[in-house]
Amino acid sequence: MRIQLVTSAWRFQEALPLLLLAFGRLSALPEWQRRYLTDDTTQLWTLNEGNQLVGIVGMHQTTPQVGELTHIAVNPEHRLRGLGRWLVEGLQRQHPSIARWWCETDDDAVAFYRRLGWTATPVRSPHPGWRPRYRCEGESN
Ligand SMILES: CC(C)(COP(=O)(O)OP(=O)(O)OC[C@H]1O[C@@H](n2cnc3c(N)ncnc32)[C@H](O)[C@@H]1OP(=O)(O)O)[C@@H](O)C(=O)NCCC(=O)NCCS
Repeated sequence: MRIQLVTSAWRFQEALPLLLLAFGRLSALPEWQRRYLTDDTTQLWTLNEGNQLVGIVGMHQTTPQVGELTHIAVNPEHRLRGLGRWLVEGLQRQHPSIARWWCETDDDAVAFYRRLGWTATPVRSPHPGWRPRYRCEGESN
């Protein structure tokens, strides 16, 4: 199993159902499509099992040594089988020069990042009423 880079609008559309599971605001989708397909520092990767797309992970290289994990999602039927970890480690293998990784997430996924050995620090929510949010930070293995 290998992760594959999304390089076409067709493959982006294919990844959309999983990407939507990781999205906070739908209105941001067109901007992310533009970034994933045209910005050299921003990438979307997919993971297939046989013919089935089972996971996606997105990243933005903020500096030569620092990467932001922008989106991650695993098909609900395939969760808790190690695929989320596989996506993060696969992404890190594709970017060996990136030493430090971070992301912002809510209280749904924070336990996942803690299990990966990342730290999680509460951050102020951008809007009142949003769920608690965390900045998670980890190092490449
Ligand atoms: C977060 C997500 C990607 C995790 O994927 P996954 O394939 O289920 O994760 P893994 O099976 O690789 O889990 C890795 C470790 O994290 C733990 N873990 C995963 N999800 C967890 C959760 N919700 N609560 C507690 N622990 C969790 C696993 O038990 C495992 O621990 P272990 O290594 O000690 O066995 C998946 O739940 C998902 O797609 N969520 C919806 C989208 C989302 O919230 N994305 C993140 C915000 S952008």
